[in-house]
Amino acid sequence: MNNGIENFSMDYFSLKGKVAIITGANQGLGLGYAVAFAKAGADLLIPHMTDNVAEVKELVEKEGRRVVFLQGDVTKDEYRKNIVETCLKEYGKIDILVNNAGIGRFADFENYPDEYYQSVLEVNLNAVYYLSHEVAKVMKQQNSGKIINIGSALSYTADKKCPPYVVAKHGVIGLTRTFCNELGEYNIQTNAISPGFLVTEVNAAISNDKTFYDKINNRIPAGRWGNPQDLMGTVVFLASKASDYVNGWSISVDGGFTTTL
Ligand SMILES: NC(=O)c1ccc[n+]([C@@H]2O[C@H](COP(=O)([O-])OP(=O)(O)OC[C@H]3O[C@@H](n4cnc5c(N)ncnc54)[C@H](O)[C@@H]3O)[C@@H](O)[C@H]2O)c1
Repeated sequence: MNNGIENFSMDYFSLKGKVAIITGANQGLGLGYAVAFAKAGADLLIPHMTDNVAEVKELVEKEGRRVVFLQGDVTKDEYRKNIVETCLKEYGKIDILVNNAGIGRFADFENYPDEYYQSVLEVNLNAVYYLSHEVAKVMKQQNSGKIINIGSALSYTADKKCPPYVVAKHGVIGLTRTFCNELGEYNIQTNAISPGFLVTEVNAAISNDKTFYDKINNRIPAGRWGNPQDLMGTVVFLASKASDYVNGWSISVDGGFTTTL
């Protein structure tokens, strides 16, 4: 009795024929997810806010995959509905959603602006809930789907000067478990990736600060900060059939950072 183990193949990791929505994937870490999915065989819809889509378009199309862009603000209900409608119109289905769009606003705690607090929760937490909720209606009909939320090392730890970021990223783990419970019976898996400290454009100020860079580096068992490429294998795994029995969890891709004192 081998319980089907002979059926397993490396095709389980392929995204051939799949359609993925990745929010904010025109730059930064999302750009890496987009290229990873394209290399694995998926076509894409990228909801984006800023105009810089040329690079991701070129990289995805170089892999022979299709990408559709839709500009707007994920905190707006009408835009979120438009994302779902556009994906169905262009591709007829939604196999994968990656809630990647995010912002950080840093300020002293005592005078932390209300506007910062509200806006970070709106993008990093509430938009994740509402877009996933909308996409889940389609995935339920399909009886299949993968939702991947983007957490952070700050899903498990805290830092100064960024209260709503910490709250939102902790909340993303709660959303991931909630959606797992609500949608598991429809063959929809909801998981998260929690990246650690990565050398990216948005992190330039902190990664160029040698004292801070070294402080963090000394806590990373891998002995180095990460880069966008480090996340690409994990996102493909969580989007693929290979992870069909993984549900409600977050994979920390942080070189071991959050395991240390
Ligand atoms: N860079 C890191 O080290 C790091 C570490 C842990 C987690 N993260 C998370 O990874 C995700 C991507 O971060 P990044 O570093 O690539 O940042 P980034 O700023 O390069 O990318 C964020 C993307 O989200 C988009 N976006 C922001 N607000 C939006 C809105 N209201 N509507 C639509 N799109 C919006 C931006 O335009 C951009 O395309 C975020 O959720 C972030 O919190 C990043």
